[in-house]
Amino acid sequence: MSSQVRARRSYPVNKYLEGNYAPIDGEHVVAFEDMAVEGEVPTDLDGIYVRNGPNNQHPPLGNYHRYDGDGMLHSVQFKNGRATYRNKWIHTACFEEEAVAGEALWGGMLDARRGDRPDMPLKDTANTDVVMHAGKLIATWYISGDPYLIDPVTLEPLGQADFGGKRTTKISAHSKTDESTDDFVFFDYSRDYPYMNHGVINKDGVMTAFTPVELPGPRLPHDMWISHNYTILHDLPLIYDEDAYAHGRVKLRFEEDWPTRFGVLPRHGTGSGTGADIRWYEFAPCYILHTINAWEEGDWLHMTGCRIQPHTDGQGNPDLQSIVTIMGRHGLDARLYRWSVNLVTGATKEGLLDDKWNAEFPTWNNSVMGDQMRYAYCAQIRHEPVINFPGLMKFDLETGAAEMHSAGPGYTYSEAPFAPAVGAKAEDHGYLVSFVRNAEAGQSEVHIIDAQNFSAAPVCKLILPYRIPEGFHATWARGDML
Ligand SMILES: [Fe+2]
Repeated sequence: MSSQVRARRSYPVNKYLEGNYAPIDGEHVVAFEDMAVEGEVPTDLDGIYVRNGPNNQHPPLGNYHRYDGDGMLHSVQFKNGRATYRNKWIHTACFEEEAVAGEALWGGMLDARRGDRPDMPLKDTANTDVVMHAGKLIATWYISGDPYLIDPVTLEPLGQADFGGKRTTKISAHSKTDESTDDFVFFDYSRDYPYMNHGVINKDGVMTAFTPVELPGPRLPHDMWISHNYTILHDLPLIYDEDAYAHGRVKLRFEEDWPTRFGVLPRHGTGSGTGADIRWYEFAPCYILHTINAWEEGDWLHMTGCRIQPHTDGQGNPDLQSIVTIMGRHGLDARLYRWSVNLVTGATKEGLLDDKWNAEFPTWNNSVMGDQMRYAYCAQIRHEPVINFPGLMKFDLETGAAEMHSAGPGYTYSEAPFAPAVGAKAEDHGYLVSFVRNAEAGQSEVHIIDAQNFSAAPVCKLILPYRIPEGFHATWARGDML
């Protein structure tokens, strides 16, 4: 790391450091009395909306990529018709080192890895995902990092999760909590053999299963599924170009002749812990960033998700190499899709659930995770001048109907988790909650949307005195989980 690079102390010109992508300073608590409120906070909304995302503590050393920023959580707690906003950085080990140094010590994913830090060649920011487990938040990173525990009410750091001293691997973003059992089901992937691991932490924080999962080589999975009895892991044909990687560059390859493989693993296996319990099923080659729900129906296992939609060539055929272009520019171009496998016969089937809408950053009612479900909610996608979400969508997976929601042009949304109403009587009885940027007014807002009256205006808007930058994934912590 040269002294010349160290001397750079101002923010470079970068479209993901400007506008509503610009990081904010400071950690705040905003009481209900200090928000402007349009409408009323529903009294059957009880819980906390928490969203993760990148927010640099210091100017970057080199080429900033929008995945690089230090993780910051923003939350809104709702109770008794009132709301409280908070934000706080995730106090990762790297964040603390850079806080002491007073400057960035790591570059980003477009820069050289730190050769002097084999323990941490890239800065683990924990900036990607956040889930509830056993009454605490767990923040995770998209390329598998250390999981950080956080108090869901105060956002105070509670240190790394070590699961009773049993954790020996990293943990990837999109590891999931089964709300029916409070099992935390995780996967880890890396460039080291066996390239993937799987584990289960029970509601008491005890690791009840751990299974090394052997892949043919290093892979780039981003998500997985859980049903009530199985974890379904991804082996997808999008990989790093190894020649480029050896020269310190990140370049993707799509192997058109490789199938998409889903590994179906009984959640607790047979106790062998060897990976021998996993069964692999092949589907047409594709890439998937984000899954929706999975469920068992008789002998069948159904899995839904957002499948990257390849562009078409001059003859109208799918151009699978366009997946490299889409993912290489970190674009989002996906359609709702379903894969199914018969666990007795091995038969498979797959197909689009919707061929029209570019749908990503999916959410659903997490209390039906592992059950056959009807409603998925996604962000609408706009790429220019920067990726943002101009609205939200509700999909009825039974009828194929899609409903749109937007407060108007100039509004952009965050990932919006589903918050079931207290005493909910139906799967979609509840609200979507989202941070919203109102560009025209130059203000950040929180919108509460009635999921059963989805296209209508929000039932409540909270106007915040601070700007909320664009972010990544979010969760809803029900009041009875706290
Ligand atoms: Fe993600």
